[in-house]
Amino acid sequence: MNTGYGFGKTILFGEHFVVYGLPALAAALDVSTTATITALDCEQSCLIDNRPKVPYFVPSKYEQYNNMLHRILVYMGIFKNIEITLAGNLIVMSGGIGASAAAAVAIARVINNYFNLRWSDEQINQAAHIGEGAIHGNPSGVDNTAALFGGVFLYRRELETTLFTRQNIKVSGPVNIVLADSGRVSDTSKAVADVAKLKEEKPEFVQEVFTRYTQLIIDVQEAIKHKSLIELGKLMNQNQELLVLLGLSCPELDRMIVIAREAGALGAKLTGSGQGGLMVALTPEKEVQKKVSSALRKAGYVTINTSIGG
Ligand code: PMV
Repeated sequence: MNTGYGFGKTILFGEHFVVYGLPALAAALDVSTTATITALDCEQSCLIDNRPKVPYFVPSKYEQYNNMLHRILVYMGIFKNIEITLAGNLIVMSGGIGASAAAAVAIARVINNYFNLRWSDEQINQAAHIGEGAIHGNPSGVDNTAALFGGVFLYRRELETTLFTRQNIKVSGPVNIVLADSGRVSDTSKAVADVAKLKEEKPEFVQEVFTRYTQLIIDVQEAIKHKSLIELGKLMNQNQELLVLLGLSCPELDRMIVIAREAGALGAKLTGSGQGGLMVALTPEKEVQKKVSSALRKAGYVTINTSIGG
């Protein structure tokens, strides 16, 4: 097989906290990036990027993406120069949709298929994680795990190792959400470094925020047990407050969140690294989903109506 794929994702709870070993709740999206081997024995390995993108997308990461391909090839023991073309229906937005992880998984999958390596999903996930390191420095692995396995799941990384646990969450039917793009391109490495800096400068303050999140993710699991989407929405709003305290929001995200809540979303928060990128709003009822996205579009934001689980 000459093509591999990886799903996009949204983080419903716990971005940044997951970097420090706390659990996150993530969900794969019903869109994916594909990777196809389009040439062999090239002068050097390279990526051709044919993925759809929002119009204001500024391509700045091509060198990092080629580095990602190189890392994956080395890790998978392939010392041939190949050209891979990225495409698919995942639209590259200003951050938070897991575009780089979806690409890394698609690349690792196509290499596995084409060279008949017979690697397990866990091994392919590891290769994608190493590849994503070219873009994010020290990724928690939640993005590539969503891109590879799909579904809705609680994710926890073990600190100082590459080990992680993934607990699937059964969702009884698809739950509608709205994603909206702030138009401000986010930089995951910078956002993660900013939290680390704040932690160094104000350890007690950050510890307090982490303690509050530790309780919040327990409450999330209770709400899931009781299938309470209303409670989950409230908890998303609380998660947003904690992310604001860590300096991860921005005026566009704040504005989109207010618009989404006023239009009837059960909860809304930034998703992904923050300081730009995407917002996610929980809108189980189709009518509310339409209302939220049209309010956001009216205010000038690009939105995606989609669903998770199911
Ligand atoms: O912005 P994204 O989609 O790459 O998500 C980053 C999520 C973080 O928790 C901030 C970083 C990580 O590696 O988990």
